[in-house]
Amino acid sequence: MIRFDFKTYTREFIKEEEYNYLYSKKDNYIKMLQNSPMTGWMRPIEKELVEDIKQTAFQIKKDFDCLVVIGIGGSFLGSYAFHNIFKRYFNDTSFEVIYAGTTLSSKYLDELLNYLRNKNFCINVISKSGTTLETTITYKVLKDLLKRKYTKEELKKHIIITTDKQVGTLREEVKEEQYKSFVIPEDIGGRYSFMTPAHLLPLALNYPIEEIVDGYYDGKRLIDLAFEYAVTRRVLYSKRKYVENFCVYEECLSPFTEWLKQLFGETEGKNGVGIFPTSCVHTRDLHSLGQFIQEGNKIIFETFIKVDNSDNYIDYKGKDLQEINNIVLDSVAKAHYQGGVPCLEIEMSELSIENVTALIYFFMLSAAFSGLLFGANPFDQPGVEVYKKEVREALGK
Ligand code: PA5
Repeated sequence: MIRFDFKTYTREFIKEEEYNYLYSKKDNYIKMLQNSPMTGWMRPIEKELVEDIKQTAFQIKKDFDCLVVIGIGGSFLGSYAFHNIFKRYFNDTSFEVIYAGTTLSSKYLDELLNYLRNKNFCINVISKSGTTLETTITYKVLKDLLKRKYTKEELKKHIIITTDKQVGTLREEVKEEQYKSFVIPEDIGGRYSFMTPAHLLPLALNYPIEEIVDGYYDGKRLIDLAFEYAVTRRVLYSKRKYVENFCVYEECLSPFTEWLKQLFGETEGKNGVGIFPTSCVHTRDLHSLGQFIQEGNKIIFETFIKVDNSDNYIDYKGKDLQEINNIVLDSVAKAHYQGGVPCLEIEMSELSIENVTALIYFFMLSAAFSGLLFGANPFDQPGVEVYKKEVREALGK
């Protein structure tokens, strides 16, 4: 179960008539979204594709020690966030998935090469455009390592490419080398691609894929709440609350906040407007950024993600530690509100696949609505291209 409270700690900042005015446009915004050409992520995924993903994952687990996912941004954050929520902090027994391709650090890549040198690994390179620099470099370096060990024919088993159906260098490579491949549909952008093989294949190695699919589509029931969330944020923005701080009280949710930052940041941050998304992992960051949030510049509002129950019971003086963690969360929301910081709350009964996947859909809907409320195209990211062009010129390409 998921509960939403966008009112208790925002009421002083939001006039009912302002909120109602925007909320009354809900049906128009739903229509706008449904008419958008980039909403393939709302369409049910084909059963045959799910079967293919399951079959491929089964084969990877049978043939290899680990899978190296190479991708960046929307091409890795969804499955990375999900995996980090459900794997164990210590003594993790899940099938090893390494997420590479997110850095140009030679220290990282060199150490990764050393780690993989004697491993029997498979690569899943994921890039819709097929031109992303970090992905391209990491893929080349790891492929070179494989080439030194295997024949051209053997290599086919070790490489899986997830990319556009028709265009790009990776698709050409699939055609030339006959590698196994999956498609990121044309009408689904990177940050909205959770329900595609880009994320489902790495996840299928360790999690029941049908449960992920069902949970995700179950998130559709949250459409009104997603609009409510978008409207609340938009009204807060008009009160000069320009920064949204996503606060989690579980370290394992930290990568989920990275996914949220990309989703909202790339969706809204255009034309000189938009809410800047940031995040805190509490209680740790109460001892670093807590002071600023409580008493600093009042441009911040917060969204707390709360988890009611945990399977891990730790007693402290007759109280469950999870309860203590949540007492702190409630107290912080109250204190920050008193300090002029509006706080919104999203509460999951527990960290289950059902709750997390529904929340993924909820946030995607909400981000898309939010982009539209800011008058932006929620599905492009022209600003990212600007630096890429500079890099290409600097590298002489
Ligand atoms: O959300 C997006 O579209 C971007 O963040 C992309 O996912 C990211 O830039 C990676 O692009 P590509 O999949 O083309 O390598």
